[in-house]
Amino acid sequence: MPHYHLALLGFGNVGQALARLLLRKADELRSLYDLTFDVTGIATGRHGSALNPNGIELERALQLMEAGERLDSLSTQPVPVNAFDFIRRSQAQVLFENTPVNYESGQPAVDHLKQALELGMHAITANKGPVVHAYSELRELARSRGVRFYFESTVMDGAPIFSLFRETLPAAHLRSFRGILNSTTNMILTRMEQGETFEQAVAYCQEIGLAETDPSGDVDGWDAAVKVAALSTVLMGVNLKPQEVEREGIRRITPEDIRAARAENKRWKLVCTAERQGQGVRACVAPQLVDAASPLFGVEGSTSIVQFETDVLGLLTVIEADPGPDTTAYGLFADFLNAVRSV
Ligand SMILES: NC(=O)c1ccc[n+]([C@@H]2O[C@H](COP(=O)([O-])OP(=O)(O)OC[C@H]3O[C@@H](n4cnc5c(N)ncnc54)[C@H](OP(=O)(O)O)[C@@H]3O)[C@@H](O)[C@H]2O)c1
Repeated sequence: MPHYHLALLGFGNVGQALARLLLRKADELRSLYDLTFDVTGIATGRHGSALNPNGIELERALQLMEAGERLDSLSTQPVPVNAFDFIRRSQAQVLFENTPVNYESGQPAVDHLKQALELGMHAITANKGPVVHAYSELRELARSRGVRFYFESTVMDGAPIFSLFRETLPAAHLRSFRGILNSTTNMILTRMEQGETFEQAVAYCQEIGLAETDPSGDVDGWDAAVKVAALSTVLMGVNLKPQEVEREGIRRITPEDIRAARAENKRWKLVCTAERQGQGVRACVAPQLVDAASPLFGVEGSTSIVQFETDVLGLLTVIEADPGPDTTAYGLFADFLNAVRSV
């Protein structure tokens, strides 16, 4: 029975949700997939790190994080001096990279993933930065080492988007897509329809952990633009930087706009679109009025949706309700299984 050593770089909301899911699914992995695992390394930025070639006790690691304590006491080896030292000494076959996203350069996650691939590890991430800044390089590196670079959770959390095309739509040619890819703005617009102001709706999203202290990445459309760039790069083969996506956020939408739309049975949505144009792709994130005939109309709160137009099927739609760290963790978990079973 194959046994895998896993390393978790980043142990915040997503890393901890992944640890809980691994614990919950361990028996199933053994009985249904004939594989076992242990976690030989966990690293954070400010909460310490642990290395144990015999496997770290995951329940204990989760308890320490909950208590706000450091992980160092779980280490049976000198604590790594930085992320690169951690990756090198983890002895893992799979690295999960879940550090915060850097929209400008994708770093240091790009270098973390590169190092893992160079050492012959599968590299799996929920971090969008490396996909939009270094996809081709990381994919080629993975190919040359006979391992996988997977990133299902970077768009629509655990919902199958990249694996949908990779595993189940062979030779399908993606012509265009359209969707709602940012949960925070969709929640804000939904709350404004219920009578809240923009500021109240933002505050609500911050309260439930959907929006960050500085919500501009969401409300100005950057997060959506990064996702559009990732989909274009990976699924359409056209490398697009987030800056190349035409972008407008939702700040100009007023409560009056919302009320006027509702009076006509329409809704404002932050809509992402991409369409092939010659050798390139024209991509856009902008508020649009959608009417009741559109599948985007009923997508409320933090739910997201994407519709794909291919050369082989009619419009294909994926909707994901109620995303969060647990669904993101499932995307990483699925990537792990798909990676180790594909080689
Ligand atoms: N939350 C979601 O549902 C979701 C959905 C899709 C994608 N993602 C992506 O998943 C990634 C993780 O998100 P999250 O919500 O788990 O973030 P988070 O709660 O802020 O956790 C980030 C983790 O990375 C650690 N870290 C920061 N810099 C590091 C470094 N240089 N080396 C090692 N560890 C470092 C942090 O440690 P300290 O806290 O000790 O500093 C923390 O453990 C992000 O890229 C995010 O965009 C998240």
